[in-house]
Amino acid sequence: MKGKYRLLLPRLGSASGYSNGNIPEACLTTKEQLDFYNHLGSNQIEGFAPVSSLRLKGFLCSTQRKKRYDPSWNYSDDPSRPYTHPIHPYPAMMIPQVAGRLLDGYGKRNAVVLDPFCGSGTVLLEAVVRGHNAYGIDINPLSLLISKVKTTPLNPGLLEEELEKILKKTLSIKKIEYPQFPNIEYWFKPPVITKLAALKRVIETISDQDVRNFFKVVFSFTVRASSNTRNDEFKLYRMEEEKLKDFNPPVIEIFEERARRNISFMSELWSVAKDINPAVEILNEDTRHKTSVPSRKIDIVVTSPPYGDSKTTVAYGQFSRLSLQWLGFNGDAVKIDVHSLGGRLDVHNLQLVYSSPHLVEVLDSIEKIDKKRAREVMAFYIDLRKCFNELSRVIKKGGFLCMVVGNRTVKGVQLPTDEIVADFGETIGFKHVETIIRKIPNKRMPLKNSPTNKPGEVCSTMLEEYIVIMEKNN
Ligand SMILES: C[S@@+](CC[C@H](N)C(=O)[O-])C[C@H]1O[C@@H](n2cnc3c(N)ncnc32)[C@H](O)[C@@H]1O
Repeated sequence: MKGKYRLLLPRLGSASGYSNGNIPEACLTTKEQLDFYNHLGSNQIEGFAPVSSLRLKGFLCSTQRKKRYDPSWNYSDDPSRPYTHPIHPYPAMMIPQVAGRLLDGYGKRNAVVLDPFCGSGTVLLEAVVRGHNAYGIDINPLSLLISKVKTTPLNPGLLEEELEKILKKTLSIKKIEYPQFPNIEYWFKPPVITKLAALKRVIETISDQDVRNFFKVVFSFTVRASSNTRNDEFKLYRMEEEKLKDFNPPVIEIFEERARRNISFMSELWSVAKDINPAVEILNEDTRHKTSVPSRKIDIVVTSPPYGDSKTTVAYGQFSRLSLQWLGFNGDAVKIDVHSLGGRLDVHNLQLVYSSPHLVEVLDSIEKIDKKRAREVMAFYIDLRKCFNELSRVIKKGGFLCMVVGNRTVKGVQLPTDEIVADFGETIGFKHVETIIRKIPNKRMPLKNSPTNKPGEVCSTMLEEYIVIMEKNN
């Protein structure tokens, strides 16, 4: 264990601008690190006190990383989402313009692209229309379904024909059994359940898997739109009783309208990509562990990881749960928020905190205010750091890692995630190239949150994003 810490120390130095390897005395000693680690390892969060005594602030002199605000990355006057980008909503989507520009700027011709947190597949689609091959990874089966459909060009004429058949068959079903999952009647009114069940049964009979998946995405959209949830929110909240009384969603019409819209999005993709035939591999795996992406296969990663743990930031699991249950997923597959970064504190890898002096410093500040929140924040970054091991394994020498992150605020302390991920990268074989700051012009992220988790107590969250670009050294 000691050897491990000794190795870490010089790297901490270089990550913070001490590139000549002279680490100031205020830096952590091995003993101090071990004391800290042992305290945390007791499974309590009592052990942060030693950190403040480490005088990390001195060590954390301002970094000299190249960072600039560039308004041309805002795209505030270009909200376009071409091709199949708009087929299904998803929380915290990247804007296609940013994904495309990163691929153009740092990806070579015929690159192999990876998005290790692919969400709804924005990066993958931008890769496909450029003729790149791509891998996408996500733990959320709904994200994989949307990504797959988004990146699979299908003949729109064929989809039109299939839609007519679905509508006819669905209307002819007279009797149907309800699917069984917990609280189904809390989230859907009985007439809605009957119609959704009929649609589902018909969609399942479509023999072509790609066509079937296309209509499953339309179905998932319909599930969301006809549920008793407040539809403008990503978290699962039931509509107010008053509103619910008059809520009688026209399920089949919603499905039909959405299908027609998605077919028109698909014709845009079909017109540019029908002859490209790109290879896109979409993996239901966990980026914290070794994935099936071959070593040194990837030329460029473009990605936006979650902004924090699902419980206190974006709840991908809650957003996806009803769709997944209707699509037949249950058990572990639906418990995405637990498997998401920071879902559980990995007590066996606490030492990874030391990959980033910036992280140690903010954990220390938050711990003084709220130990539990410090623990949650730590759990998230330890998981994110584990993903860097995997990224380092799969990216080629000279390949690029472009990570779009937000610096959210917890308990009034801003988390410098852009610096933290650059620290992580530098400890594991990447060189920081530059960080571009862009404003978030639309409302993809809540502009206010409740850092104290007390109702009514809000403060502004992220108004800008940081695009951190790193190059693989070896
Ligand atoms: C910010 S979203 C990505 C959004 C995406 N860029 C888009 O445009 O739709 C982050 C994604 O990371 C996924 N995720 C969380 N933990 C993960 C893990 N351990 N391994 C792989 N994916 C994970 C979430 O399910 C979510 O889809």
